[in-house]
Amino acid sequence: MTQHKTGKKREQWGSKLGFILAAAGSAIGLGNIWKFPYVAGDSGGAAFIVVFLVCIFIIGLPVTVGEILIGRTAQRGPVGAFKKLGNNSRLWTSVGALGVVTGFLILSFYAVVAGWSLGYVVESLKGTFFTFEAPEAAGMYFQSLTSNPYWIIGFLFIFMAISLVFVLFGIQKGIERGSKIMMPVLFILLLALMVRGLTLKGASKGLEFFFSPDWSKINGQVILLALGQAFFTMSIGMGAMLTYGSYMSEKDNILSSSLQILILDTAISIIAGVAIFTAVFANGQDPAEGPGLIFHIIPVVFSSMPGGYFFSILFFILLTIAAITSAISLLEVITSYLVDEKQWNRKKAVVLCSVITFFLAIPSALSYTPIFNDKLIGDKNFFDIIDFVSSNIFLPLGGLLTAIFVAWFWGFDKALLEMKKGAEDIFENHFYLIKLWKIFLRYFAPVLILVVLLHSMGILSLLGLEF
Ligand code: PHE
Repeated sequence: MTQHKTGKKREQWGSKLGFILAAAGSAIGLGNIWKFPYVAGDSGGAAFIVVFLVCIFIIGLPVTVGEILIGRTAQRGPVGAFKKLGNNSRLWTSVGALGVVTGFLILSFYAVVAGWSLGYVVESLKGTFFTFEAPEAAGMYFQSLTSNPYWIIGFLFIFMAISLVFVLFGIQKGIERGSKIMMPVLFILLLALMVRGLTLKGASKGLEFFFSPDWSKINGQVILLALGQAFFTMSIGMGAMLTYGSYMSEKDNILSSSLQILILDTAISIIAGVAIFTAVFANGQDPAEGPGLIFHIIPVVFSSMPGGYFFSILFFILLTIAAITSAISLLEVITSYLVDEKQWNRKKAVVLCSVITFFLAIPSALSYTPIFNDKLIGDKNFFDIIDFVSSNIFLPLGGLLTAIFVAWFWGFDKALLEMKKGAEDIFENHFYLIKLWKIFLRYFAPVLILVVLLHSMGILSLLGLEF
């Protein structure tokens, strides 16, 4: 264990499994259960999945390995890690700082959606969904709830308070222990929902929709969507994996851990897709867009299926658990900045970061109420703008800079020395994997990410290069 500046020992994960579950908990979230099924469904089903898998292996995996490696080597959160390995350079330190800012921004809108899902646990317990006479009623009900400031801000507050408790107790007693309980529950709930979906009459229509590739839907736009999804779903580009890696022991293998996290994350996305689309199609519903899919359609789907009361509760608990384990990783990034760099006491740091995030989240929370639903830029309200800037600009930018940092600045000589710790077997018997990682991180990842980034900022379309 490294000695902290204050003389205190830096905490580490209690076990390799603890790290894997916590990191998988960060990766698996609203991005998998809400976003992935819809985007995949809308963008060519299996064809999108193939493109997504290619992106996640070519870019997601190499960047994940790079991030965890930086964290474990420096034993600091993003700001301290880039500062330490970047020879105190201002430029690299600001890459770390960008991660902390992105953490605040993502958490501020993520917690709002997480608050909705917590609120829907209560609605499903109350049996509200059984009172809807027509499918449209579910959408109207969603609108009436999300335009009620007390409802959204109330659940936002409760959600932030829950996340705070886990981070307050620290790495082993809070995050690791929480993930060890929540992640298995999440896997079981999701499997139960998938089996329920598959055994519904008409489930095959959903499977057909989700698994038959429609290659005609694949174009530049969809490839870029798949890339963006790869970043968001793996929690990379803002230092979450880096921070979790900083609590990792040198005995553990970064390469195999990264692969395990990626496989868990991808499997959950696909299982969620199966669970959701079999249920949607068995009920003759149309797969709708974005937040609509889950909050408008799922209640209707569940209210008309056998055991629906029970399964609707399970579904929203599952969604909330997935959101909590991701939110705590975002909160840990910003908290660790104050703990590592400013030597703050963890309790004080977590409370301050949560309070700031809560206030930052209020305009996003109010973006669906008449108080503040103005379209500020184009058709985007405040919530959409924060989501767009953090997910589509800052994450790819952070990922790009991380790849450049490891491959071109810190250098593979030093990086490989660190990576070898805990991965001796791969270095001795499968060195080609290391060579592949180097090529992907040095060339493929930066170039492809740059394309996503330019696209996100609308530069490609300005240049008339949208293909
Ligand atoms: N990976 C999370 C999800 O899929 C979101 C997230 C992004 C979490 C970035 C932490 C950092 O929902």
